[in-house]
Amino acid sequence: MKESTLLIHGGIDGDAATDAVNVPIYQTSTYRQRALGENTGWEYSRTGNPTRAALEALIADLEGGTRGFAFGSGMAAITAVLSLFRTGDKVLISKNVYGGTFRVLDKVFKSFGLGYALADTDDVSALDVAITSGVKAVLVESPANPLLTVTDLAAVTFVAKRRGLLTIVDNTFMTPYLQRPITLGADIVVHSATKYLGGHSDLVAGLAVTNHPEIAERLAFIQNATGGVLGPFDSFLLVRGIKTLGVRMDRHVANAEAIAARLAAHPDVSRVWYPGLKDFPGHAVQFKQAKNGGAMISFELADGKDHRAFFRALRLVALAESLGGVESLVCHPASMTHASIPKETREKVGITDRLIRLSVGIEDADDIWSDVENAIRKA
Ligand SMILES: Cc1ncc(COP(=O)(O)O)c(C=O)c1O
Repeated sequence: MKESTLLIHGGIDGDAATDAVNVPIYQTSTYRQRALGENTGWEYSRTGNPTRAALEALIADLEGGTRGFAFGSGMAAITAVLSLFRTGDKVLISKNVYGGTFRVLDKVFKSFGLGYALADTDDVSALDVAITSGVKAVLVESPANPLLTVTDLAAVTFVAKRRGLLTIVDNTFMTPYLQRPITLGADIVVHSATKYLGGHSDLVAGLAVTNHPEIAERLAFIQNATGGVLGPFDSFLLVRGIKTLGVRMDRHVANAEAIAARLAAHPDVSRVWYPGLKDFPGHAVQFKQAKNGGAMISFELADGKDHRAFFRALRLVALAESLGGVESLVCHPASMTHASIPKETREKVGITDRLIRLSVGIEDADDIWSDVENAIRKA
């Protein structure tokens, strides 16, 4: 099946019990057992639920993996994946990852003895040097949040495999419609499905996918043992959202390309980070491994402009956490999404107090631009 068809018919298509074209919301915690030890394969909804199973099969198909797992948030998915490791192990993470990923490693896993180090995953030879004893995995976001740093996924997975490490890719910014890390050698893909996969800013969810049977077995065990599963209603909403992922992403990206070009040409904008711009450092790698530059843009206003006044002046674009919804959202990473990273570390990796991150929605591009342009003027 081609990609656009897979988005609609991948995984478990329809309902075998009733021939309903959509997988129903199996809103149940448990299942009647015919006799001791005799059941239909469904026992308890933390362990398995048919609506969640449809979503898990769908994301596995879309990412080119063999098994998918759905969780109550992107962080729950990342936590489950990090639970694959043990005391004494270490994980290398891209320098500008989502603040919550940094926080769970720094404030939760570190106290259980799982170490981490920040690495320049976009520089493969530096990464090679950073792999010291105890390092068991590399966790990469590409493009990374919020500076859109692009990592060559095939090169990283090549080095990781040679050194016996797992590669975990957070594919939230791209989605499988634009980039499929498992086909480039990654072992595990994670998502904040809260973002483009859900697509409507109406749910919080996380997904993990792998193509290794042993990792899948262990993740299934961890998912059931720790219990951060996604409920049936949100699983249904996510399957529904994914059906329109292709058309939404096409529009998100067309709008982002238009907005990035206008920002880059604006005299009051000092810098724009967008992988779709030809002079962006990671542009060539991005277009080698993904369909296009995606729909996330970061930028800084010129000296003398006040970013607080910029945020205050916006009318259409909402100042909000999150990204990837049909509506355009803007955020201030230093005080919002990346506030959990200490200021010193933030500045070292380039997340300044002036940085603005824009998630370009699917409204009319001219309307988005007039709002942004007006706010720049008032800043
Ligand atoms: C790249 C990335 N990964 C993971 C997460 C965490 O996902 P969630 O908020 O669904 O827990 C986010 C949230 O913003 C994110 O942007």
